[in-house]
Amino acid sequence: MTTDLFSLSGCVALVTGASSGIGRVLARGLADAGAKVIAVARRSDRLGDLVGEIEQSGGSAMAAQADVTDVDSIERAFDAAERAFGTVDVVVSNAGITDARNFLKIEPAARDAVFDTNLRGVWNIGQIAARRLVEAKRTGSIINVASVLGLGVQPGLASYCASKGAVIQLTRSMAIDLSKYGIRVNALAPGWFKTELNEEFFDSPTGIERVAQMPARRLGKIEELIGPVVMLASDAGSFMNGTVVVVDGALNALIA
Ligand code: NAI
Repeated sequence: MTTDLFSLSGCVALVTGASSGIGRVLARGLADAGAKVIAVARRSDRLGDLVGEIEQSGGSAMAAQADVTDVDSIERAFDAAERAFGTVDVVVSNAGITDARNFLKIEPAARDAVFDTNLRGVWNIGQIAARRLVEAKRTGSIINVASVLGLGVQPGLASYCASKGAVIQLTRSMAIDLSKYGIRVNALAPGWFKTELNEEFFDSPTGIERVAQMPARRLGKIEELIGPVVMLASDAGSFMNGTVVVVDGALNALIA
């Protein structure tokens, strides 16, 4: 059946940055598709509700503490995941931060914080996941959350745009190097979805005006990312590798 193609039954899915926004919703979506979910956050105490919600709707989930910039903490989270559910074969590298200021005013520490989380974090999670999959002789699917700002740019977001562009190139490199092991690696490039990362902006008069000028004349609903991610994670996306799936209501198609 076509719907079976999208089933994640038997999969073990790890989602970073699962305590809020896109990560939280994707963790629920992957669990609804049948995956056992490891929800990762720096403060795992913030994940109790999410794990409870998944379990109440008949799924399996656990919380794990890790900072994506800290390799030891990531290894510990994967160890805990393997003890509970087995080898992680679906990864959503979602943790990310932003920093809005003009290029002239960006201090090295602020730039490095964005690069460390958005790029090195995705690198760390992907490398640890892939090494463990190869060691276990298992195939898998890694989804790196980039952004439409990895494809085009907006003013005052140099660190963020550079980091997300690098995530897209890293995704392609990982896909090429890991293809022979049956590990697919794709990037998700969301347009604008209101979360803690940007809600102040989208509630401001400038933000409201920006939304009015978008082709869709609205922000995305986070739930609209679930389908594309489940497709990439499951057999439905079995020949999708090294690609960028843009989910943005045609924002990236517009030359404004
Ligand atoms: P958010 O701020 O709600 O979520 C980001 C999550 O990452 C938070 O839970 C945060 O605690 C976690 N995080 C940050 N640094 C971390 C670290 N070092 N280790 C572990 N976790 C860490 O924001 P949102 O919007 O849900 O962002 C999720 C991803 O989606 C980010 O990578 C972001 O760049 C990307 N994105 C978001 C868009 C949007 O419109 N909201 C558009 C395009 C991409």
